[in-house]
Amino acid sequence: MLTTRFPMSYIVHDYYFKKAKVQNYVARSIFKLCEIDERFKLFRQGDTVLDLGAAPGSWSQYVSQKIGPQGQVLGIDLCAISLKISNATFLTGDLNEMNLDEVLKENNFGKFFDVVISDMAPKTTGVRVVDQTASLGLCELALDIAKEFLKPHGSLVCKLFHSADFQVFKRDVQKKFSKVNVFIPKSTRKESKEVFLIAQNKLDSNYNT
Ligand SMILES: C[S@@+](CC[C@H](N)C(=O)[O-])C[C@H]1O[C@@H](n2cnc3c(N)ncnc32)[C@H](O)[C@@H]1O
Repeated sequence: MLTTRFPMSYIVHDYYFKKAKVQNYVARSIFKLCEIDERFKLFRQGDTVLDLGAAPGSWSQYVSQKIGPQGQVLGIDLCAISLKISNATFLTGDLNEMNLDEVLKENNFGKFFDVVISDMAPKTTGVRVVDQTASLGLCELALDIAKEFLKPHGSLVCKLFHSADFQVFKRDVQKKFSKVNVFIPKSTRKESKEVFLIAQNKLDSNYNT
C-alpha cells in the first residue's frame, strides 16, 4: 500500500491540499482559519479585516465569504496576489517598511479594522533558532499593527513558530487583549511547530473615528 510508506503528516497534507483544490481555494491554509473561526467566532457580516502576509490569498477568500458584500478585506504581502475578489483589495509590499497610514488613505480604507489576521511567515533557513527569531519578529510586527489599527474590542490572529520566547510574547499580547488563547488547528501539518495566538477584546482606548 502506498500510504504505509509515508508518515502520517504526508497523508494529512495531501488530504487538505486536495480538499483546497476541489473547493477552489488557493491554499490549504484556509482550513486553519476555518477551524480557528469555528472555535472563536471572529468574523461578522460587514467587518473590515486586515490580512497580513496574505499570499496566495486563501485566508482572504475565507474572510471575504464571512464578511459579505458590506465587508472589506485588505490583504498585504511581499508577493503579488492575483486573485480577484469583489470585497478584497490586495497590495504588494514589505510590512516592515510600509507606511500603513498612508497606504490606507490611498486605498480608501478607514484607520481601524474589526479584525487583524497574520499568517506571516519568514523564509525558513532550516536553522531552528534563526527561523523562530524571524517568526517572532513578524508576530511583534503584527501586534504593533494591531495596537495602532485595530478597533477596541477587535480581534487579532497571529501565527508563530513555538520557541522559548513564546510566553514572553503571549504576555505582551495579554497586556492589550482581555482574552488570549493558543490554538493548533487539526489541519496544521503534524511536523509543524506553528501555533496560533487568538487575541480577543482589545483593551486599547486609543480610538478616534
Ligand atoms: C504562509 S504564507 C500566508 C498564506 C496565506 N494566509 C493564505 O492563506 O494564502 C506567509 C506569507 O507571509 C508573507 N510575509 C512574510 N514576511 C512579510 C512581510 N515582512 N511583509 C509582508 N508579507 C510577508 C510571505 O511572503 C508569505 O506569502
